[in-house]
Amino acid sequence: MSTTDDHHVLAFYSRHPISRDQILAGVQSSRGHLDGLAPQDLFAFDQDHYGGLAMVDALAERAGIGQGCQVADFCAGLAGPARYLAHKYGAIVTCIELNPHRAPGAADLTQRVGLAERVRVVRGDVMRVPLAAQTMDAVISQEALLHVPDKRAALSEAYRVLKPGGRLAFTDWAEHRRMNAADAASMWRGIAAQSVQSFASYPQMLREIGFRHVAVDDLTADWGGILEERFAMYRKLREETQRLGTPSGDDEFYRSYARLVALVKERTLGGGRFTAQK
Ligand SMILES: C[S@@+](CC[C@H](N)C(=O)[O-])C[C@H]1O[C@@H](n2cnc3c(N)ncnc32)[C@H](O)[C@@H]1O
Repeated sequence: MSTTDDHHVLAFYSRHPISRDQILAGVQSSRGHLDGLAPQDLFAFDQDHYGGLAMVDALAERAGIGQGCQVADFCAGLAGPARYLAHKYGAIVTCIELNPHRAPGAADLTQRVGLAERVRVVRGDVMRVPLAAQTMDAVISQEALLHVPDKRAALSEAYRVLKPGGRLAFTDWAEHRRMNAADAASMWRGIAAQSVQSFASYPQMLREIGFRHVAVDDLTADWGGILEERFAMYRKLREETQRLGTPSGDDEFYRSYARLVALVKERTLGGGRFTAQK
């Protein structure tokens, strides 16, 4: 990685409170030990998106994911959604994750729960995906493209790796109205949001790339409540997160998160689920 912008996104997730160690600490305190772990032992701790497993189910349904499906998860984090798709739906998932701590962390957690044959973790950039063309039945992504500077490149990569008829389903922040420059700068500084597409520009971009049957679900109302709850939790844990040195202990993160909650409440920003077929 070469630019300061790339470094800011990598640094944000290298200090993020959801890490391999934090997931294992959560499991250890709920189960008392880490022996004989099963995939479902991690699910309360390893999903780094809004709405938990229900949101993964919604993507699986829209992407037509079932037994034996080849799925690519773009920006897979600690591979929580990937393990869930392998465990519940019998999918074979390839995770593309850029962060040098999260990618090996994802592989380690996957190994520990015995899913290494069905969930593969590849450290890579979704703007240049190290997968062959027309090999995937589905591509999914959750709350991650906001961090990616060239979303058209990432979505073109999704199109390239999909088989004809394959489906794309992803969630991301989206604008109902243009954020002003100060808010955009705050989202970048505090939460590493590179840029945000609008509810209209994402479908247009998908059609221009060649996708058909493009559909949009507006999740803004759901996200409003979830974000408020998360912010309350972060405030409660502030001392601990400051001590641990994670971004959710930073002043800048707090200022941006408070603004994010307000922007979603006033419907400047929102959450969208976008689905399309090759
Ligand atoms: C909010 S997390 C979502 C993780 C996962 N989708 C989940 O729901 O648990 C966003 C992830 O995107 C990754 N990421 C950011 N930019 C990326 C890029 N250009 N290529 C691959 N991964 C990227 C980050 O490192 C981070 O792990």
